[in-house]
Amino acid sequence: MSIAVTAASGRLGHAVLAHLGGLHPPADTVAVVRDPARLRTTGVDVRRADYASVADMTVALRGVHTVVMISAPVVSGTDRVALHRNVMAAAREAGVSRLVFSSIASESDESTLYFPTQQINRDTEAVLRSSGLAWTVLRNALYLDLDIVHIFAAGAEGAVYSNPGGDGRASYLTIDELAYATAKVAVTGGHEGKTYNLTGDCVSQAELVRQANEVFGFAVRYEPMSDEASIERFMRLMPHRGMDVARMLTGCFQAMRKGHFDLPSHFEAAAGRPPKSLRAMLEDCRARRR
Ligand SMILES: NC(=O)c1ccc[n+]([C@@H]2O[C@H](COP(=O)([O-])OP(=O)(O)OC[C@H]3O[C@@H](n4cnc5c(N)ncnc54)[C@H](OP(=O)(O)O)[C@@H]3O)[C@@H](O)[C@H]2O)c1
Repeated sequence: MSIAVTAASGRLGHAVLAHLGGLHPPADTVAVVRDPARLRTTGVDVRRADYASVADMTVALRGVHTVVMISAPVVSGTDRVALHRNVMAAAREAGVSRLVFSSIASESDESTLYFPTQQINRDTEAVLRSSGLAWTVLRNALYLDLDIVHIFAAGAEGAVYSNPGGDGRASYLTIDELAYATAKVAVTGGHEGKTYNLTGDCVSQAELVRQANEVFGFAVRYEPMSDEASIERFMRLMPHRGMDVARMLTGCFQAMRKGHFDLPSHFEAAAGRPPKSLRAMLEDCRARRR
């Protein structure tokens, strides 16, 4: 039974392939990428396809039983639902039985700048549910790995970590934890028609910083920041990503402030074990940095 991972050259894709390595024969694992040179995983069947091409994706998915479709990244001017629809159309055409979609865990509303991003994922889920494919939706928590980078920068630059999250609580998981649950769902039966929040401990920004300080030996202080200052800062730090991404990332903290990431976890139902604690994942991050 062949399992394919699309967008396999990204952070999540690589991590899913790594976990599949221990759960599924590499010869029956397909990595679908736009550019094989960007794939670091070896021993798997590498096929080339862009989400923009139904024809190429159909060829890439021939003979595959289960597809793990990793959501396309936010790129200004890109219709991500159309890209995801292409992958589903190709999966149907290629005779794929099941599609597992990596979505996002949030219950935001139109009052936040995060809502459009959430809606793209919900619209994709709706297309998938009526696609005729057997489906599983995995709603991923926020990546701990990304925020840890900023806390590290704060540790080095003056000990203040600032964003608009305020007192809102959110669940963070490492990409590795999300990938473990994704790989387990891909290789295990009984998940058809299920929507799982892949979430864990819910913490405030101050609590996240407190635990990071303990694990990394920092003395970082959390301070809330206005939404306007956050957009300006993201534009300064990553001008190449553009205003859409600066607004989306700021919207993420708006949604956090409003409790839209404080959700029940279905991680254990998906992965067969509870998620790691925040403390344990921070220790994993420390071990990886050594
Ligand atoms: N939960 C969270 O906190 C969080 C955070 C960030 C992102 N996300 C979402 O989760 C997804 C996976 O995260 P990630 O960290 O793995 O992202 P990533 O490292 O940026 O990787 C994105 C992947 O998408 C591929 N890709 C981009 N456009 C494509 C297209 N048109 N057709 C086929 N593949 C395409 C890229 O291929 P190339 O290598 O060829 O560029 C790459 O493999 C993201 O795309 C985003 O939707 C979630």
